Amino acid sequence: MTNILVTGGLGYIGSHTVVELQKEGFDVVIIDDLSNSEAFVLDRISQITGIAPDFHQFDLKDKQKTAQFFQENKIDGIIHFAASKAVGESMEKPLMYYRNNIVGLLNLLEAAKENQVDNFIFSSSCTVYGQADKLPIDESAPIKKAESSYGKTKQMGEEILEDFSAAFDKKVIALRYFNPIGAHESALIGELPKGVPNNLIPFVTQTAAGIRECLSVFGDDYPTRDGTAIRDYIYVVDLAQAHVKGLKRLISGENTSNYEIFNLGTGTGSTVLEVVNAFEAANNVKLNFKIVGRRAGDITAAYADNSKAENELGWKPETPLEYALKTAWEWQKTL
Ligand code: UD1
Repeated sequence: MTNILVTGGLGYIGSHTVVELQKEGFDVVIIDDLSNSEAFVLDRISQITGIAPDFHQFDLKDKQKTAQFFQENKIDGIIHFAASKAVGESMEKPLMYYRNNIVGLLNLLEAAKENQVDNFIFSSSCTVYGQADKLPIDESAPIKKAESSYGKTKQMGEEILEDFSAAFDKKVIALRYFNPIGAHESALIGELPKGVPNNLIPFVTQTAAGIRECLSVFGDDYPTRDGTAIRDYIYVVDLAQAHVKGLKRLISGENTSNYEIFNLGTGTGSTVLEVVNAFEAANNVKLNFKIVGRRAGDITAAYADNSKAENELGWKPETPLEYALKTAWEWQKTL
């Protein structure tokens, strides 16, 4: 058996990745402090796969507990999701973000080094590119100074991992996600935003459900085909499968260098209004929306050149936007 540690495994992308790992025969151990996730997700995972993952509830900032965990569990690879991820909140609480995202990572890496764990997958973000000069964005695009403390923790995380892989001969893959959306086809797991959602899709589904009165579309004066901003919306299960591919690549030694980076996006950008229309068409519902001013810190357009992931990881996203939006709505209806 290959034992994989998934930190943040009860969170949105983490839980979908646990399911895909179990389907591929990996033994999964989850560490999650439940700071932004719910314990019931563990049962939901078991309902989907028929396998209960091993679960340890603690915070990676606790260095002693982290070290003890590795002494008691033989781990072959780590997929690290556990981190705070709200852009706005990170500007109000930068120190909390650095502590959570950086100290947690350092404790994990120290324990990995001490216990000869050689394979590591890092949850990064296309936010590291800022507004890229060239579209679609490939992995050679320069990193731009992040606007938020959250974005900075992702940039720092990547740099820490690059040095870690070089100094200790460890294999690391950083996965830069574009905009993950949707839920598992079973509607048993999905995104669980706390409070008013910041991201587009949960706001859309909550508006359709009547929890929010109206979706505010942030800006229609961008230099795009309909004036609204363009993003690359990638289905969460496709994204989860890329983690499994990355892990297999590392375990079987197919990686070409110790530190690799892959973009994970569909390669196609959609405007906010295109997403609204696709959501209405896919689910046969009407969405209340109004155009308001731009949101501070937003960029005009970002979508991936995903050819590196396709050629080297053998990963190709297959799910159409409409299907992803259908699963998002099915999930919302269960909440
Ligand atoms: C945001 C983060 C990014 C993070 C990603 C995933 C910012 C500036 N960036 O990306 O760092 O990695 O989430 O969590 O927050 N929109 C509306 N109305 C809404 C919500 C969003 O019009 O109520 C628009 C936004 O202006 C944007 C698009 O929808 O054009 C997508 O927004 P969002 O889902 O928040 O993702 P990003 O801003 O791309």
